[in-house]
Amino acid sequence: MQRLIYTLKQDQVDLDLIMVIRTVLASCKEIAFRVGQGALGDVLGSTLDENIQGETQKKLDVIANQLIKNMLLTESNVAAIASEEEDDIVAGNANGKYIIAFDPLDGSSNIDINGQIGTIFTIFPAVEGLAQDDPRQFQQKGRNQLAAGYVLYGPSTMLMLTTGKGTRCFTLDKTHGGFLLTDEQVSVPAETQEFSINMANARFWYEPTSRYIDDLLLGETGVRKKRFNMRWNAAMVGDIHRVLSRGGIFMYPSDNRDPNKPAKLRLLYEAYPMAMLVENAGGRASNGTADILDLELETLHQRVPVIMGSSKEVEISTSYYT
Ligand code: AHG
Ligand code: MN
Ligand code: MN
Ligand code: MN
Repeated sequence: MQRLIYTLKQDQVDLDLIMVIRTVLASCKEIAFRVGQGALGDVLGSTLDENIQGETQKKLDVIANQLIKNMLLTESNVAAIASEEEDDIVAGNANGKYIIAFDPLDGSSNIDINGQIGTIFTIFPAVEGLAQDDPRQFQQKGRNQLAAGYVLYGPSTMLMLTTGKGTRCFTLDKTHGGFLLTDEQVSVPAETQEFSINMANARFWYEPTSRYIDDLLLGETGVRKKRFNMRWNAAMVGDIHRVLSRGGIFMYPSDNRDPNKPAKLRLLYEAYPMAMLVENAGGRASNGTADILDLELETLHQRVPVIMGSSKEVEISTSYYT
């Protein structure tokens, strides 16, 4: 089986970018080890702190953030980093070519139940002429991403990665420590009978979301003329992994729960990278009215409604919002 480095070279990825990807993955291997240790490694449970989003930080949110941050800041090619668990941009090397954003630990509520969790990351070119920690560094369109991926800490540790030439899946060989290519071209089927949404939010949804989900629930005798099944992992990384593996539609729409939080998921380190992975696997990713990759980030922790997965189903779903 092919090693990651070989695949990246075959895809003619810039050597400096390969170095940065390998640094991210070195920290993910360490996180995979700590996750595997669970209670024995004292990584379960919460801290007393909150992040800028107002979420209580789990111990593993903090550990994963520190590991990735410390490793990336030793990389000469890294100009700046941004993280869900950091209030602001953190400056790296002034001559670095790349800026990196990450969700160190996605699916925090699954940590203590031995459920699916992961790390999501994205790499952009640094903007020349701006200081490394200038807030405008990350104000780029999703289409500017040079690489995006996630590492899923499940029964096996898997890496889903794209550098723009398809989405490729690797599995961590824990005996030798390398990521080996296990699916060269991930492909999301255009049609699906599986949807993924937190149904507990139904009473807060806006009318188009309610109407679309109602139509799915009607089954064989309704307008969609087929039966849909539902899955919800409470970790985007697990839900998107299922969508990439066998198709489906994943949604976290905007709702009226909290006027200060029009949507839940973050554009920079959740929606952008997942949208790039899904598009490179033949799927679609939308905020309801526009492709997520065409949006331009305005603020670091900006939130966005998300509808992504099987292309035909995303098309049908978004037609309810126009
Ligand atoms: P994080 O753990 O990084 O804060 O992200 C959690 C996100 C995402 O992974 C998941 O899809 C969603 O929150 C779960 O939301 P619910 O609590 O509504 O299930
Ligand atoms: Mn969080
Ligand atoms: Mn997350
Ligand atoms: Mn997180």
